[in-house]
Amino acid sequence: MSIIEVKDLKYRYPDTTKLALDGISFSVEQGEFIGLIGRNTAGKSTLCYALSGLVPHFFKGAYGGSVEVAGLDVRTTDVSEVTAAAGLVFENPFSQITGSRFTVYEEIAFGLENMGLPRDEMIKRIEEALDLLDIRKVKDKNPFDLSGGQMQRVAIAGVVAMKPKVLILDEPTSQLDPQGSEEVFKVVENLTKQGITIIMAEQKMEKIAQYADRVLLLDDAKLIAYDTPEVVFSREDLAALGVQPPAVTAIARHLGKRKANGQFPVELEGLKMLLAEEGAAHE
Ligand SMILES: Nc1ncnc2c1ncn2[C@@H]1O[C@H](COP(=O)(O)OP(=O)(O)OP(=O)(O)O)[C@@H](O)[C@H]1O
Ligand SMILES: [Mg+2]
Repeated sequence: MSIIEVKDLKYRYPDTTKLALDGISFSVEQGEFIGLIGRNTAGKSTLCYALSGLVPHFFKGAYGGSVEVAGLDVRTTDVSEVTAAAGLVFENPFSQITGSRFTVYEEIAFGLENMGLPRDEMIKRIEEALDLLDIRKVKDKNPFDLSGGQMQRVAIAGVVAMKPKVLILDEPTSQLDPQGSEEVFKVVENLTKQGITIIMAEQKMEKIAQYADRVLLLDDAKLIAYDTPEVVFSREDLAALGVQPPAVTAIARHLGKRKANGQFPVELEGLKMLLAEEGAAHE
């Protein structure tokens, strides 16, 4: 059974006339990493909210179709139960940090206290999260005294410690400087190895090419494509959809270097292999 099952999802924010999500259907298997891409206002954040229950429980509006996450019908399930199954990390870590706690350690404990976990289990989970997110050395600091990259890692730690089946990250590095972004992507890489299902909205296509098993491309509230990074980034109409492929893919297209399956490579290794094969053929 799929961990996420979205069927003909339609959603419109209150007091608006246009659908923000228009007939979206797709499913995700346990352990997959899904990259969510598309130009500004395509609907990426809204889809993240729909998967974590903020739509329709916090953002009301008009809702049609269905979203099932870890066997829960998002529409009819209590939002706290949905959030426990599908944790959401916002773009801006300031929106996530509670501000009610003095230390990073206590901040991570906050969500766990609300879950009513036994103390031993709480400590175990906090310790794990400190290592997984590489924030052990700042555990006694105030979350607001940290760099952007550290703060975002604390925000992610707070969600990960709740052990959601699905982790949803909405452009987790868009507010960060290059160093902070790299720190966050490194821990995302750690997380991919934990077998957790990840949905990540992202503008940095190199990262999507690197991590994603499948890419979901949205445009104007509609699902345009849902396929491997190679297939999606090899589309002829990508520019018209407001998406810039990874540099490697753009170069391969420029050089006319396709793989045997007709797709362009999305990572440097793939392009190197094509060029090496060609070099060998000329010898
Ligand atoms: N709180 C809101 N109230 C009303 N309309 C909204 C709200 N949030 C988003 N929208 C609208 O919903 C549509 C989808 O927006 P959404 O934020 O999901 O796009 P996005 O792909 O995340 O864009 P970005 O790349 O800028 O983050 C847009 O037309 C937007 O104007
Ligand atoms: Mg967004």
